[in-house]
Amino acid sequence: MGDPGNKARIAVLASGRGSNFVAVQKSIDAGEIDASIVVLICNNPGAGAIDAARKFGIDVAVIESAGVSKADFDKQVVNKLKEYDVDLILLAGFMKIIGRPLLEAFQGKILNIHPSLLPSFKGLDAQRQAIEYGVKVSGCTVHFVDEGMDTGPIILQAAVPVFDNDTEDSLSKKILAEEHRIYSEAVKLFLENRLTINGRRVFIRQQPV
Ligand code: GRF
Repeated sequence: MGDPGNKARIAVLASGRGSNFVAVQKSIDAGEIDASIVVLICNNPGAGAIDAARKFGIDVAVIESAGVSKADFDKQVVNKLKEYDVDLILLAGFMKIIGRPLLEAFQGKILNIHPSLLPSFKGLDAQRQAIEYGVKVSGCTVHFVDEGMDTGPIILQAAVPVFDNDTEDSLSKKILAEEHRIYSEAVKLFLENRLTINGRRVFIRQQPV
């Protein structure tokens, strides 16, 4: 893709359909975020996100995780991120735990989106967990990534109601619409340098500095 000049350089890591990736790219195209997604890294060669990246003219790096040691996989991902000189890494449906080498190389620069109101319903099938538990409110969370699974400091959350006739599918759709909104918002806040991590808490400055 073209030279992004002085714009912030984003890498997206995805394993699946890539709708959050597309939502962030659309916010960039709409002029809401001043940045460029310079590379999509996928561990799954069949991911829908790859087709989306090609349509946008965004570089794709497929780094397969199957049959590779975690250490080798992490090393290849870190090298690719360094090659692209990225300022921010977005996990968007990336089905791998982020290892220490990546965390150390890009400390405080990795965000994730999760389809529940953390700390409830971490891990896989969060929407199904919410339905089965019987909560009346669920939602999504954008957070900094740490060594745990869905445990890092929370940046933004959005809530949606859970009605009696909701299914895993209908709840997922409601949550996804909010995911697309708050992921872009969190990216904007990060790039405007408005986030401060204080222990588990993330403070948001009203004005860019
Ligand atoms: C989203 O629900 C996200 O919260 C979770 O994985 C899903 C990815 O969806 N981490 P998509 O690939 O962005 O469409």
